[in-house]
Amino acid sequence: MKLAPSILAADLADLAAALAVCEQGGAELVHVDVMDGHFVPNLSFGVPVVKALSRRTELPLDVHLMVSNPDRLLDDYLAAGADRIAVHWEVAEHVHRTLGRIREGGAEAGVVVNPGTPVELLEDVLEALDFVLVMSVNPGFAGQAFIPRALDKARRLRGMIERLGLTVEIEMDGGLDPDTVPRAVEAGVETCVVGSAIFGREDPLAAMAEIRARAAEREVR
Ligand code: DX5
Ligand code: ZN
Repeated sequence: MKLAPSILAADLADLAAALAVCEQGGAELVHVDVMDGHFVPNLSFGVPVVKALSRRTELPLDVHLMVSNPDRLLDDYLAAGADRIAVHWEVAEHVHRTLGRIREGGAEAGVVVNPGTPVELLEDVLEALDFVLVMSVNPGFAGQAFIPRALDKARRLRGMIERLGLTVEIEMDGGLDPDTVPRAVEAGVETCVVGSAIFGREDPLAAMAEIRARAAEREVR
């Protein structure tokens, strides 16, 4: 399992410390939630923040674009140092073209699906993407309760990917913690985004270790 701590849940006045936690805890990715106050009610990080993060860490930046018009912003986030970019299916009108632009820009391309969006809709673009981000909360805020239905969605997606003989990574985001991460891994999720259950804990490094240990129990079975 790959762990992608979501720095939205960290102390936003000290993002360098959040990056240090990611590095010391052996995170594979740093998850960066970009929100525009329009597609989602919240506002968060913009291009300058992504640029600053990329200057401060070697870890790949996993940029989750929760914005109404992702096409307008793609080039800026690519230039800012995003290593992976995921756009929401619900707002990407020409998703195949958008994914192509992300790949041409040298980043891994992903599509995000909200809890109400069926993964079956992705069948015809699966070849054009590197990963699918399955939301297990409604996007907008850290610290929300996990929606169990997302597990069934991950299983269906895993089946679809295997049936088509593709290599597409499944990532999950929202409400993941030491109890829900193992269930996600069992459902075929390879990358877990974790916010509050890392940065909301007194000892974030111990929290990361616990999550990994709990996930490993399921991986060997
Ligand atoms: C929600 C964001 C998530 C969030 C995860 O809109 O996309 O990445 O920060 O936080 P937790 O793990 O607290 O649900
Ligand atoms: Zn996210």
